[in-house]
Amino acid sequence: DLLPMVRPRTVLLAAPRSFCAGVERAIEAVERALGQWGAPLYVRKQIVHNTHVVADLEARGAVFVEDLEEVPDGARVIFSAHGVSPAVHAEAGRRGLRVIDATCPLVTKVHTEARRFAGRGDTVVLIGHDGHEEVEGTMGEAPEHTVLVESPDDVADLEVPDPERVSYLTQTTLAVDETNAVIQALRERFPALRGPGSDDICYATTNRQDALRDIAEESDLVLVVGSGNSSNSVRLMELADRCGTPAYLVDTIGDIRPEWLLDAGVVGLTAGASAPPRLVEDVIAALGGLGPITVTEREAARETLQFQLPPAVR
Ligand code: F3S
Repeated sequence: DLLPMVRPRTVLLAAPRSFCAGVERAIEAVERALGQWGAPLYVRKQIVHNTHVVADLEARGAVFVEDLEEVPDGARVIFSAHGVSPAVHAEAGRRGLRVIDATCPLVTKVHTEARRFAGRGDTVVLIGHDGHEEVEGTMGEAPEHTVLVESPDDVADLEVPDPERVSYLTQTTLAVDETNAVIQALRERFPALRGPGSDDICYATTNRQDALRDIAEESDLVLVVGSGNSSNSVRLMELADRCGTPAYLVDTIGDIRPEWLLDAGVVGLTAGASAPPRLVEDVIAALGGLGPITVTEREAARETLQFQLPPAVR
């Protein structure tokens, strides 16, 4: 019975939201490769962490694999936006695979820093989430010299060969405020700490968090469009929560539970960097089915960045 949920609502729409430049580039790389060479086209890991994007490309002939072992020798394979370790590049080379590397240039930048910091003899402390593909790739640049921390607590337990030679790097999709707390803890333990400037959190992650912070407190409820394995989407949900507003991750329209909307006169809406804009439209349409809505967009930043496509599909 949806009748109790019917009421007028305001939708506060965060901007920027949805696709970032790195995600657009990665998806376009797959689309162009499919256009140029047809199916099957192998893609190592989810090209971006979104179930709709993956299902759509799968329907058009992309074959997603977890491991290069599943790719026939000599075949063409795309590496996902999250990046891969040098060991994966080496294996592809040995197997004669034709690689199209869709790693986001802002992830590549972190890999370059990892090599540089490790190369000057530092222990590299990577701030990130264990098991995330981007973290696996970045750690792989200098596995012997890199340690992973997730929280200030982890910093207390760190053991390094030389406390004077410690650098940090970060995953690109972390929460800015939480990451600052970890960097602060590192600085306290290792006063000679060096880093990448500020951090490696990318512009898209930062902008989506800033935009959400602007609307979260005014909202009775925040909906974040994104898949459960999307790091930056989950960070958005947690951020709204820290602002004191109940927040839910919505992968598909069917995830929205009517009871969430019962007392929600103002609904904050955003989407992670891997979530297609179409899904946001779908959520707005669904909300419109539960009474008259007024949509107000709040723009925290304007994004104009675009990346060149990988050379093979340019
Ligand atoms: Fe790149 Fe940031 Fe998007 S690292 S893929 S621009 S979320």
